[in-house]
Amino acid sequence: MNDEINLITEAREEPNLVVIDAISHKHNSQPGATIPILQEIQDSYGYIPPFTIQKIAENINIPASELFGIVTFYAQFRLHPLGKNVIKVCHGTACHLSGTEKISQALSQEVGAKEGETSADGLFTAERVACLGCCSLAPCVMVNGEVHGRLAPEDIRKIVNQLRQTERKTEAATT
Ligand code: FES
Repeated sequence: MNDEINLITEAREEPNLVVIDAISHKHNSQPGATIPILQEIQDSYGYIPPFTIQKIAENINIPASELFGIVTFYAQFRLHPLGKNVIKVCHGTACHLSGTEKISQALSQEVGAKEGETSADGLFTAERVACLGCCSLAPCVMVNGEVHGRLAPEDIRKIVNQLRQTERKTEAATT
């Protein structure tokens, strides 16, 4: 792990079982509160830390396997932390017809992670989404909340490299 990754890791709040207990009790530790508990834990950490599954299951008195099944069933829950930059690739009809698969492949090659994964350096998470609501710009992606449209594969590579440069500058400025 290089220094860049260490910095990213240190910046995240560490999952804490005391906090997990507090969130469970706040929701009365009932099986019916499973989804709100998971949502609050994910809001706190950006994902559901896998090692907390057993503890949450004990708190709400359901088997850990059942809880794991719930976490993996709902697309809203993640078992891995998000990367520093989140790139959502639109696979809606207009984008699909305009070549979004090539954008997706270029992104995957550039960051070393497929959609649904985070790059090994922790800088990028690629996500697959349905229509972003700007079909006239197809094919498009959303990068950290900002839409980029009428993309060619080369464009997504440039965007990724610009984000890397920004990250390096930020890192240099803080060391
Ligand atoms: S299909 Fe991609 S923005 Fe609508």
